[in-house]
Amino acid sequence: MADKKAVAIFGATGDLALKMLFPSLYFLDAEGHLPAELAIIGFSHTELSEADFIAQVRSSAAERASEEFAEDAWKRFAARLRYVKGDLEAAKDYAPLAQILGAGECVFYLSTSPDYFGVIARNLKAAGLAHKDARIAIEKPIGHDLASCCRIENALAEAFSEDRIYRVDHYLGKETVQNLIALRFANTFFEPLWNKVSIEQVQITVAETIGVERRWSYYNSYGALRDVVQNHLLQLLCLVAMEPPASLDPDSVRDEKVKVLRSLRRIAGSDVERQTVRGQYRKGFSGEGRVPGYSEENGGAASDTETFVAVAAHIDNWRWAGVPFYLRTGKRLPVRNTQIVVQFRAVPHSIFPHHDLIANRLTIRLQPEEEISLQLMNKTPSLDRGGMRLKPLPLDLSLSDAFKRVRRRIAYERLFLEALEGNRILFVRRDEVEAAWKWIDAIVHGWSERDIKPAPYTAGTWGPSAAFALTERNGHSWYE
Ligand code: BG6
Repeated sequence: MADKKAVAIFGATGDLALKMLFPSLYFLDAEGHLPAELAIIGFSHTELSEADFIAQVRSSAAERASEEFAEDAWKRFAARLRYVKGDLEAAKDYAPLAQILGAGECVFYLSTSPDYFGVIARNLKAAGLAHKDARIAIEKPIGHDLASCCRIENALAEAFSEDRIYRVDHYLGKETVQNLIALRFANTFFEPLWNKVSIEQVQITVAETIGVERRWSYYNSYGALRDVVQNHLLQLLCLVAMEPPASLDPDSVRDEKVKVLRSLRRIAGSDVERQTVRGQYRKGFSGEGRVPGYSEENGGAASDTETFVAVAAHIDNWRWAGVPFYLRTGKRLPVRNTQIVVQFRAVPHSIFPHHDLIANRLTIRLQPEEEISLQLMNKTPSLDRGGMRLKPLPLDLSLSDAFKRVRRRIAYERLFLEALEGNRILFVRRDEVEAAWKWIDAIVHGWSERDIKPAPYTAGTWGPSAAFALTERNGHSWYE
């Protein structure tokens, strides 16, 4: 008999599925969030028995959950798991899936290379699986540029209507990213200051200490601009810069995000030299000790792929005219740190002649810890006989301390639940992805037209020196 509800994961034996997707589903199940009748199916070309597949999922869930791993929860979860071995491109291999699923409600989660998105959608349709109760979730990056994205999107659209396509950007599932909306729109005092009058610059950084790990061949054909800037960084920028949405329904929020993307000033021609920096790490030191350079990770093969990008972006609208948004991401940087820094302007006139007043700064840290901090000027306690003494001090909100008992979730947990419930607010709409690609394509085109190759940086440092010049040119510097 066909199952009533299911999640089917394509690319089920890949890194993402084993490290993130199955453990997320395990946690949701352990906390009682999954419908009792939900089946979870892994689909992959790997020759594996169902028992071996379940054993692989168990070991990754156990590793992730560590001491929270519970045998009874695992038993319940394991009973949901099925494995279908199949070739993504072979229509006939979808028949066993159709047998298991019937016409039940299903989320097809594509954790594969985007090259397969179109063919999977076609095969699902041919197998009768793209029915009105089926949704398809796809991982970024969708394509390599706007043209390939449109080809994939058109193929998807032949099988699934827009309201059944869930484009995943796992950053949107992160607690602190969600909190950005709460912070901006559930408090009164930010909004009147949230504009060019009070804000001097915004910096958004996604810094990683890891290298490209086992993903060299994927990474080498994408690079940091497509891997992180096109999606995660631009999504964060949208949430910081968007106008207040009319409501929290998916389209109201996404309408505002797409307006930001369309207002991004195109970086083309000689602007790519002044407004962007590309880098590639060479051997050096990171938290793990001595680490090889990017090319050495693949046997020394030379490559022009960037592992670091910094961009000075501008949003041409009334709210943000003239405010630079500095975006930066890289592998093998000195620390793991994802943060948004909103730098306010200096006071218009200082009545403290002996002090350099430090302008207020709001830091929203997503990783490694979730923290919000507002730097304010304070008086130092003293008798002040030689004049008042001041010191910048942070007003700190540590979310991990405030919510000590709350487990830090994997971003995918929330995304799965929303997709299962048919709520699209955390997923990206087609016009958003296309607007993002359009902006990215201009940069890529500028790089190739001007033959801009990645500048080397030593692993464990903050990227090439040009990244410092990028902000210093405007009298700004990066906040680390
Ligand atoms: C992924 C990128 O989308 O995001 C990776 O493909 C990157 O290269 C990762 O490491 C970063 O995500 P997080 O959640 O660890 O910041």
